[in-house]
Parts: sequence; C-alpha cells; structure tokens
Amino acid sequence: MAYAVATRELTKVFGSFTAVDRLTLNIKPGEIYGFLGPNGAGKSTAIRMLCGILEPTSGSGAVLGYDLVREAEEIKKRIGYMSQKFSLYDDLTVGENLNFYAGLYSVPRRETPDRVREMVAMAGLVGRENELTTNLSGGWKQRLALGCAIIAQPAIVFLDEPTSGVSPVSRRLFFGIIQRMAAGGTTVMVTTHFMDEAEYCDKIAFISAGRLMAVDTPDNLKKNVVGGYLVELDLPGAMDRISAIESLSYVEECTAHGPLLHVLLKNQSHAAALRESTGADPRPVTPSLEDVFIALARQETTAAQKEGVHQ
Ligand SMILES: Nc1ncnc2c1ncn2[C@@H]1O[C@H](COP(=O)(O)OP(=O)(O)O)[C@@H](O)[C@H]1O
Ligand SMILES: [Mg+2]
Repeated sequence: MAYAVATRELTKVFGSFTAVDRLTLNIKPGEIYGFLGPNGAGKSTAIRMLCGILEPTSGSGAVLGYDLVREAEEIKKRIGYMSQKFSLYDDLTVGENLNFYAGLYSVPRRETPDRVREMVAMAGLVGRENELTTNLSGGWKQRLALGCAIIAQPAIVFLDEPTSGVSPVSRRLFFGIIQRMAAGGTTVMVTTHFMDEAEYCDKIAFISAGRLMAVDTPDNLKKNVVGGYLVELDLPGAMDRISAIESLSYVEECTAHGPLLHVLLKNQSHAAALRESTGADPRPVTPSLEDVFIALARQETTAAQKEGVHQ
C-alpha cells in the first residue's frame, strides 16, 4: 500500500453548497498530516468522508486500501477517530471508558487488560484508573479520549481539532504522544488551528472554501508560498501603525506578530524606504506558518476577486 489515504477529486455538496470541492490528497503511512484552514473550510466534512461516516457526492478515495464508498464498513473497523467533542462517558471511570471502547472496537478479550494498561500509561493516568471521568480536567480527558480512539491499535487515526480548549502544556504533551505513534508507523491526520502544532506535522494541507490551496512540508511552505521579502519591525505603538504601513505602495502586507510587525515587501530593495518612513530598522525574517497562512488567504481573495471580474 503506497498511501494510507488517497483521494481523487473528493467532493461533498449539501443542497446547493459545496463544502468539499474536488479534494485530491495522498497521505503516506506513518506521516503526521496536518489539515489547516479557517472555520467552515470543510475540514471536518472531509474527515467524515475519509472515516466512511459521510458518503461523498462525487470523486473517489481509499483509506488503507479500502474504497470510501463500497468498503466504508471495513474502514470504520480499522481506523481511530477522535472529534472535537470527544465522546467519553463522564459517569464511567477511566478504566471503564477504555474497556468500553476496547469492546466497541472488538479488541480480543485476553488482550484487553494489557491494552488498557498501555493506554492508561500513555495518557499519564497511572493510579487514576478508578477515578470518574467527570473529575478529570480537560487535558487528561483529551488524552483519555485519544486512548479510547487508539486502543485497538489502528493503522491510521483521524483527530479533528483534538486540542481545542486544552492548555498549552497539555497540547504539547498530546503532540508528543502523536509523534511517538507516528514514529511507530501509525498514520495521523489531524486538524488544528494552532500554528505551533502545525509545525510538528510532516505535511500540511491548507484548505479554504473546500479547496486545497497548498500542500507541502512546513519548511517548503515557508520557502515557497510567501514570496517577496519579509521583514520584522519593532515599533512603539505598532498596532496603530498597521494601516499606514499597509498603504505604502511597496508593502504587500503588514500584520501583527506578537509585539512586532511582519511587513511583506515586494522585494529587498524597498527595505531602505521602509526604514525611512517608519524610523525603525527592518530585519529580514524567515516566514512563519502564520505568514504562510496569511499569504494563502490573500491569494485566495485575489483569485476570488478575479473570478468576480470575469463573471
Ligand atoms: N450536514 C451538513 N449540512 C449542511 N451543511 C453542512 C453540513 N455539515 C457541514 N456543513 C457546512 O459545510 C461547511 C464546512 O463545514 P466543516 O466541514 O465543519 O468545516 P470546518 O471543519 O473546516 O470548520 C460549513 O459551511 C458548514 O456549515
Ligand atoms: Mg471542523
């Protein structure tokens, strides 16, 4: 099997609205594949199709070699899935939740105790097996939900915004677990809003309005997408100066980046003019994924405007 996930022009239409628009993806076994895009971009809809939960309107695809439409049941048996509203039973204990999911995923009886122990250890819940799930804080619940999703050792796991609403420390722990899983050969497809998490991915696919805008490694995206010449400015009252800077003819984009400004110049020769007009020294910076995201959003707006003109 060359790819854990392969789709061709996968499309989902709700009524007259196209939520996922001709998505073609190839995900290699053992890859951490990040799915990024604004709210409503179609990430969850795409994942539901890949999990065999939602039937595509058109296009085709296979997960672990099984056809999305004809073999949806085979897919459901073999994958792990964790959604944003992870489905734990609050009135069951940690151990009971894991045992329940082991049964649901048909983990053989005699393997279940070992599997439960492994998941408890992975989630850092040793000694808390008998605690009620309702008493766990967000980060623990999240790791327990991951344990439930992967207790049957699936070859691929789909995580749909698994880290929304948990602390930064928990998010880091969670991604540590994901990296170990991937190193062990598990394919991980994960959606996130957090750029620091996107950095951990082997590949990132950006989608917007249902369409794939770019897919590459984080490093290649930073090298190839942003274009122009990106500098950072350290200015007093930076926030209030964004629109003035953006109105300069040689500036493509000006955005806040923590307390600093990132200014995208058309090219390097404009650095002197920017120094002149702001009084601050522009320092060249390597684009971050945030810059990539902004650049892709701008490309999309420009494309939409052009389409509008031709209509
Ligand atoms: N069952 C559905 N019926 C109608 N519209 C839907 C349905 N599910 C999702 N949508 C719409 O499809 C778009 C994409 O949603 P979704 O896949 O949840 O985006 P994301 O996960 O990227 O935020 C949204 O505009 C959403 O309202
Ligand atoms: Mg979603």
